[in-house]
Amino acid sequence: MISRLCESRSLSLEEYAQLIDGRDAEAAALLAARADAARRQVYGNRVFIRGLIEISNICKNDCLYCGIRRSNAGCARYRLEKDDILSCCEQGYALGFRTFVMQGGEDGYFTDERMADIVRAIKARYPDCAVTLSLGERGYESFARLREAGADRYLLRHETASPAHYARLHPKEMSFERRMRCLQDLKRLGYQVGCGFMVGSPYQTTRDLAADLRFIEEFSPQMVGIGPFIPHAATPFAGRSAGSAELTCYLLSILRLMHPAVLLPATTALGTIDSAGRERGILAGANVVMPNLSPAAVRKKYALYDNKLSDGDESAQGVESLRRRMAAIGYEIVTDRGDHPDTPSTII
Ligand code: 5AD
Repeated sequence: MISRLCESRSLSLEEYAQLIDGRDAEAAALLAARADAARRQVYGNRVFIRGLIEISNICKNDCLYCGIRRSNAGCARYRLEKDDILSCCEQGYALGFRTFVMQGGEDGYFTDERMADIVRAIKARYPDCAVTLSLGERGYESFARLREAGADRYLLRHETASPAHYARLHPKEMSFERRMRCLQDLKRLGYQVGCGFMVGSPYQTTRDLAADLRFIEEFSPQMVGIGPFIPHAATPFAGRSAGSAELTCYLLSILRLMHPAVLLPATTALGTIDSAGRERGILAGANVVMPNLSPAAVRKKYALYDNKLSDGDESAQGVESLRRRMAAIGYEIVTDRGDHPDTPSTII
């Protein structure tokens, strides 16, 4: 099955499920070796960095797994203003970052007008940089206005490709169909799009994971973000077990083989669950790291899950140390926008 995945870049739902359930150390090593070879053909040993600016932890949603859900009264809320964001970019640019990712909860303060103004300001100052948004669900017109303002990329994890599983992770006012529609809208508007899911989230079955893989195979996004689920003490999923680094890395290898040119981060959650998670992710086929560029004063407040890393090598200021860690395993952190080779050129 691994050979077939390498050749046809595709497996059936049943085959993905078997590949997951039947895994052992030998299969993982073979997948990782093939994934590494596939990645090297497209990107060599280059690892791209993205400066992550967490612009607000205020969120109108109430996702059961998430520490910044609106029902969490214990969460100290904050929001960055335009000037704060621009000064994060200034620091990031000096450190070598050429992609800025603005991520936040669904905070009504960031209207299209305010957000478009911030995007335009960043693009005017740093025309050689890519701007990525990760601000949750918005309407088609809103995505269109932000794209017109200059946003290049959008990250919106689909969370799970199974409607029944989606319903167990989200309150009933949230809709699987709407989320999937957002992803289609983003693609139509010519964004480089990232989707993704958590590994080991409550109620997740092997078939759910196989459905995620089938969905990603078909949707063919430019980026895929996956990381282990990690419980947050102030959510309904407190005390649940976390997802594993082992399965996350195994799935990273499958994703690399399915889409050899996909941009695949070794996520903060992977680094949080395992101190060598970053390296393990890269060795399994990931080629992106996203250090934290948020102001130090707010970093701890963007607590999606317990013990989320934000300092040291996780911070943009720690990029030199991250560079050494990557060099130690044979990879090179580069200062490059790191676009997907098939960047959409659609202009709206
Ligand atoms: N564990 C791991 N990942 C989480 N996310 C939210 N809560 C958790 C958690 N408890 C992920 C979601 C979201 C992204 C920003 O963070 O997949 O899309």
